[in-house]
Amino acid sequence: MESQDTSRSFLHRCRTSPDRMGVSVLVTLLIGVWCAQALEMSVGKVGVIEALNGSTVLMPCVYSSCIGIKNLYFSWSYNRTEPLCEGLIPMEGIDPHVVILNERVEFVGSSKTSNISIIFKNITFEDAGDYICFGKNPKEKGRNHSATLTLIVVDELREVDNTLTVIIMSVVGGVIGFIVLAMVIKSLVLHILGKVQEKKLSCQESETEKAKSAL
Ligand SMILES: *[C@@H]1O[C@H](CO)[C@@H](O)[C@H](O)[C@H]1NC(C)=O
Ligand SMILES: *[C@@H]1O[C@H](CO)[C@@H](O)[C@H](O)[C@H]1NC(C)=O
Ligand SMILES: *[C@@H]1O[C@H](CO)[C@@H](O)[C@H](O)[C@H]1NC(C)=O
Ligand SMILES: *[C@@H]1O[C@H](CO)[C@@H](O)[C@H](O)[C@H]1NC(C)=O
Repeated sequence: MESQDTSRSFLHRCRTSPDRMGVSVLVTLLIGVWCAQALEMSVGKVGVIEALNGSTVLMPCVYSSCIGIKNLYFSWSYNRTEPLCEGLIPMEGIDPHVVILNERVEFVGSSKTSNISIIFKNITFEDAGDYICFGKNPKEKGRNHSATLTLIVVDELREVDNTLTVIIMSVVGGVIGFIVLAMVIKSLVLHILGKVQEKKLSCQESETEKAKSAL
């Protein structure tokens, strides 16, 4: 009897432990889901850069990973087709070995700040488009992550637009000023005319008075 009881309780224990295992599997899964974006590439909140043709732009990109990195591969490409630069970061805090694939690109990032930004020199109108900051952490079985930065190239014409605005504003201001001046002059003239008429009237009155008294 005793032994049967212990075996039953043993069985019972055996039956509960898979439940506990289930719970731990669930917790692991939850952490997995929470950590799904294990590696994240970020180019900032806006994701759009406006630059003057001929200028040099900083293309920012930082990475973050909640499970850490090892041999993180990263690259920058233009419109997903033209490679600009790529590199490998062996470990957190260790500066990457970078390969530059475009003579106008310079790597300015630092592993100390998880920064893999580049600067792109001598921007022309043909450079407008999407720049992809790509990352792949072998710790995540080669899952791809990327962030896109859109470059808009503008001409100095915008400043001409500004002077046009200034011209329009001064014309509008001038017209308003002129109208105000005209109104002031008009009321002044009316005032003076009124005074003159008053005088004339009083003169006429006094003359009629004189005529009356003469009669
Ligand atoms: C920008 O483009 C305009 C028009 O194409 C050109 O006249 C100007 O010289 C360019 N500016 C620079 C700095 O290249
Ligand atoms: C960028 O333009 C400047 C001046 O036009 C020139 O001296 C320089 O060599 C150019 N740099 C590159 C990488 O094309
Ligand atoms: C990344 O590094 C560059 C160059 O040092 C710097 O200008 C930029 O602000 C850095 N970006 C971030 C997000 O730290
Ligand atoms: C990840 O990117 C590489 C290019 O670096 C590509 O060959 C591969 O198909 C991509 N994998 C996935 C799952 O998107």
